[in-house]
Amino acid sequence: MTPLLEARGLRKRFPSGDAGWLDVLVNLDLMLARGEVVAIVGASGAGKSTLLHLLGALDRATAGEIALDGVAYGRLDAAALAELRNRRLGFVFQYHHLLREFSALENVMMPLLIAGRSRDRARSRAEQLLAEVGLAGRMTHRPAALSGGEQQRCAVARALVHDPDVVLADEPTGNLDHGNGVMLADLFFRLARELETAVVIVTHNRQLAARADQILLLEDGRLTPVREVEALP
Ligand SMILES: Nc1ncnc2c1ncn2[C@@H]1O[C@H](COP(=O)(O)OP(=O)(O)O)[C@@H](O)[C@H]1O
Ligand SMILES: [Mg+2]
Repeated sequence: MTPLLEARGLRKRFPSGDAGWLDVLVNLDLMLARGEVVAIVGASGAGKSTLLHLLGALDRATAGEIALDGVAYGRLDAAALAELRNRRLGFVFQYHHLLREFSALENVMMPLLIAGRSRDRARSRAEQLLAEVGLAGRMTHRPAALSGGEQQRCAVARALVHDPDVVLADEPTGNLDHGNGVMLADLFFRLARELETAVVIVTHNRQLAARADQILLLEDGRLTPVREVEALP
């Protein structure tokens, strides 16, 4: 069976200093099944965000290959990669990246409009998801009028609204206090399971990592399975 998302022999190097190179990812492999939730942990600077950028087709690998449903990113041109990002992937970052000039509702409708859905259908689906994340009473608010936790819940609704195959989340609770972090994690996991969306989540939060199907440690440019959350550094 073809995995949903597969990375093989992935390498990423950045130019560093004068004529030097920084090898961030070295021969990294990853397999993600449909609906599976994988947590990635690792020290600051280990390359977690770099890996998510590659998986999200936001940056190109130096070597190796990533494939979604058997289609290798390396064979796609820029337009096809944009299409893949818009239709099949969802993103949640540490800071929400909502569009400031638009309401919560418009922000959540956006991925559906980009995917070519009618305004009416986009609106009703976005309203439904905003209600599910507890923002029924905040739909017309702009991001600046929402609390940090509300902005992040809105970002989760936006990441899931177009029913992507995979959501990539980079420390989504990183800027939230403990209570809001737990609330966001509960919501995110519940919705991802309900919608059978696969998730790759980068997190420092052990409780959050413990809820994933697999926990992987990124160290020395590679991923290794973590059996017990207590063993995490
Ligand atoms: N665009 C870039 N150019 C040069 N170095 C980079 C770039 N992006 C990341 N790095 C370096 O790669 C390493 C991994 O960064 P990052 O993926 O952000 O780590 P993490 O998310 O695990 O904290 C760091 O040493 C960082 O400075
Ligand atoms: Mg990072």
